[in-house]
Amino acid sequence: MNEKVAALLNDQINKEFYSAYLYLDIANFYTKKGLDGFANWYEVQAKEEQDHAMLMYRYLQNNGEEVTLEAIAKPDKNFETLMDPLKAGLEHEQYVTNLINTIYGAAQEVQDFRTTQFLDWFVKEQGEEEKNSMDQITKMKLFGDDARSLYMLNNELAARVYTTPSLVL
Ligand code: FEO
Repeated sequence: MNEKVAALLNDQINKEFYSAYLYLDIANFYTKKGLDGFANWYEVQAKEEQDHAMLMYRYLQNNGEEVTLEAIAKPDKNFETLMDPLKAGLEHEQYVTNLINTIYGAAQEVQDFRTTQFLDWFVKEQGEEEKNSMDQITKMKLFGDDARSLYMLNNELAARVYTTPSLVL
């Protein structure tokens, strides 16, 4: 594998684990606020991020590349309002989309079509994750100020169940 592509993928493992950490931090915030449904949604999201990291880890290994695990940064976002984590989540997903696109571009440049094909799943996944974040922001704007509506929204998010990713290596 091209050295730059392998290094970017290796770095992305760390970024995905950081995402898991960030979402766990968000879940922790909502737990403290008594919103167990929101907390559940973000705990499930944290598990999905670990899956993303593991897919890249396994992909590198399967292609004979060395995996190097680096320290995971501390989540350092400050949340005060119930909206803050949702906005931070969207911002973070947009950042991750850019990272995935950069790896995709690097793979394309060296005609590493196996990697672009592998990354296709992530490109689609990023679209879904950005949409989820935007939907949550919209709902919070609409219903967040009304206690009864917030209670229902919390119940809706409590229903999310973790499933293993559709991409299996
Ligand atoms: Fe692994 Fe939320 O992207």
